[in-house]
Amino acid sequence: EKGTYPYYMLKEIDEQPVVMRKIVQKYQTIDGEIAIDQDLLTTLKSSDRVYIVACGTSSHAGWASKKFFETLTHLPVEIHLSSEFGYNMPLLSKKPFFIYLSQSGETADSRQVLVKTNELGHPSLTITNVAGSTLSREATYTLLLHAGPEIAVASTKAYTAQIAVMAVLAKALGTEKGIANAVEFDLFHELGLIATAMETMINEKEHLEELTANYLSATRNAFYIGRGNDYYVSMEAALKLKEISYIQAEGFAAGELKHGTIALIEEGTPVIGIITDAVTGQHTRGNLQEVKSRGANTLVISSEGLAKPDDQILLPTVHPLLTSLLAVVPTQLIAYFATLQRGYDVDKPRNLAKSVTVE
Ligand code: F6R
Repeated sequence: EKGTYPYYMLKEIDEQPVVMRKIVQKYQTIDGEIAIDQDLLTTLKSSDRVYIVACGTSSHAGWASKKFFETLTHLPVEIHLSSEFGYNMPLLSKKPFFIYLSQSGETADSRQVLVKTNELGHPSLTITNVAGSTLSREATYTLLLHAGPEIAVASTKAYTAQIAVMAVLAKALGTEKGIANAVEFDLFHELGLIATAMETMINEKEHLEELTANYLSATRNAFYIGRGNDYYVSMEAALKLKEISYIQAEGFAAGELKHGTIALIEEGTPVIGIITDAVTGQHTRGNLQEVKSRGANTLVISSEGLAKPDDQILLPTVHPLLTSLLAVVPTQLIAYFATLQRGYDVDKPRNLAKSVTVE
């Protein structure tokens, strides 16, 4: 039930800190260890590559997990769109392991790939919010998101829950493999800090509502830009904005703009930069400068430690591998407010269904 909330989406955005804490609680044993099926870890340990297969927002959660998964486990990770992968399967590694990310566990595009990888005899894991869902029943292993029902068509808490559960899996696997990065990473503590930082962002609603009115009220299009993890969050931020507010939005690799797309920048085009990494952040700032000098209305979301005085949205500092969990929150709220301000139904955008059960 949405209770006093006007929309499920707002309720689900607000629930994210609680979901982070719930994941810690569900995946931590009483002696502080990680509760993950040993058989799953043994299978992953003998694999040589992880293939994440998913659609939409869930595929973006895959992208947001790539860097920490590789850092903590030393296993290469590829992310693929289900609708492309099934009929255009790339040459697979010798011992592939498939991870299906799916909030609903019912997405037909993902299921058709799972049917094929099952036929090929490859081990698989479904990470889903729905126990007993089709993808859960048909995969070798399942991990649950414990995010509670997600009703709004636009996915929010499932995205952050997917990243957090991927982090739990990476920590468990890396520790099992004895990789120092993983052994030393106090994930449960870091997720607790993320939950608190998310609350700080969620309490900034009035500020975000005002920025959204100033930057997005009259526009037909908008860009989110970033590099690395900040690019992956940009893709998710843009999908959220376009699917409910109908603003044509693109998430772009900041450095790639000048190779063509910068031609679309006009007087007043909103360009939102995401900066949570010191090294790439400097380059993204350069790219923001380029679009600004061509008339763009630039807005910067940056980690506190990296912020410049004019940056409009400041993210509390969290562990560098997990910044996506936090950076996405203001972009969810921007999408929410842009939609409200345009007078559309936040929870039920046109042409979309919550669970897509056709290919
Ligand atoms: C966007 C959104 C969709 C889903 C996609 C996959 O907000 O919700 O892009 O992420 O349809 O759905 P699941 O995760 O249920 O497989």
